[in-house]
Amino acid sequence: MTGPAASTTRADHADATLAVELAAATARLAAAGVASPRGDAEQLAAHVLGVSRGRLVLVTRVEPAAAGELRALVERRASRVPLQHLTGLAGFRHLDIAVGPGVFIPRPETEWVAEWAIAALRSPDAVVAGRPICVDLCAGSGAIALSVADEVPNAEVHAAELEPAALGWLRRNVERTGLPVRVHQADVGIPRSPTDAGRPVAPVGTVLTDLAGRVDVVISNPPYLPDHERPRVEPEVGRHDPPAALWGGPDGLDGPRAVVAAAGGLLRPGGLLVMEHADGHGQTVPALLAGEGWWAGSWSEIVDHPDLAGRDRFVTARWNPPGPRPPRGAGEDV
Ligand SMILES: C[S@@+](CC[C@H](N)C(=O)[O-])C[C@H]1O[C@@H](n2cnc3c(N)ncnc32)[C@H](O)[C@@H]1O
Repeated sequence: MTGPAASTTRADHADATLAVELAAATARLAAAGVASPRGDAEQLAAHVLGVSRGRLVLVTRVEPAAAGELRALVERRASRVPLQHLTGLAGFRHLDIAVGPGVFIPRPETEWVAEWAIAALRSPDAVVAGRPICVDLCAGSGAIALSVADEVPNAEVHAAELEPAALGWLRRNVERTGLPVRVHQADVGIPRSPTDAGRPVAPVGTVLTDLAGRVDVVISNPPYLPDHERPRVEPEVGRHDPPAALWGGPDGLDGPRAVVAAAGGLLRPGGLLVMEHADGHGQTVPALLAGEGWWAGSWSEIVDHPDLAGRDRFVTARWNPPGPRPPRGAGEDV
């Protein structure tokens, strides 16, 4: 179209510059208390413009529709909706994991936990017979299980999760990536308050009965925050991560205890547990493996590991039961 009407709507009259949009977005997000305002503004702009963040330097002008979309997203981010819910994706190792309401957003520190399990599964020790078997307990979006399947292609990978909403995201991610992860709805045995308890779900020991005593690596990032931290978490976490993904009872150890018990029922003698924990649990979680429960004396090589920020972050241990398998199965009461 030509003529006056067209000239008054020409993009170069109405377009905003990206630099101005980013400066305004950054100021808005900083004022709202967002921890990384410039980074989030750039990621939202990249999402709206359909380019990678690195290519934003090549963009100068933003069409009015895109500017409006960006401003709307910035407002939602300013109300502390997580960035990953707005873009729909969370980067985890080599994968983009789909996330949104109802599923825990995978965290960068967990990439390091997954790295340890991946290295263990690639080592010759991992394979006793055939393919190494890995089980991800409390799998959420599937970030860990999918990364294992991606990076250890000969592994047989299982992902177990309790919550139906999280299972929906997990199945979606398996479909999107095409990676061979077998998904199970199963209860690892974490006590639930009567108000949180949904429909009963079969315990891990029943659902994965074929795997009892055969698994090479159990990996888990269970809910582990002590209940008393509820008032202290950031709005993105407290309002948007599902409660079942976060809270681990009065001492935060309900999740780790249940995972330790379930892992004992799944691992082969000599198999490995890799479990993330709260940064205040660098001594209590190794002590839990060394002492408490029917598994006393069954874990060796118990080592706690820091994350990249130097905070105690995950424990590894080898399952070496001295006697026959305990009568109680994986996933039963601790
Ligand atoms: C901290 S999130 C970790 C999710 C994922 N593994 C990750 O690292 O991103 C903990 C997960 O445990 C799940 N969960 C909580 N209670 C459970 C139970 N009793 N059995 C199995 N999964 C459970 C939650 O729904 C949540 O998805």
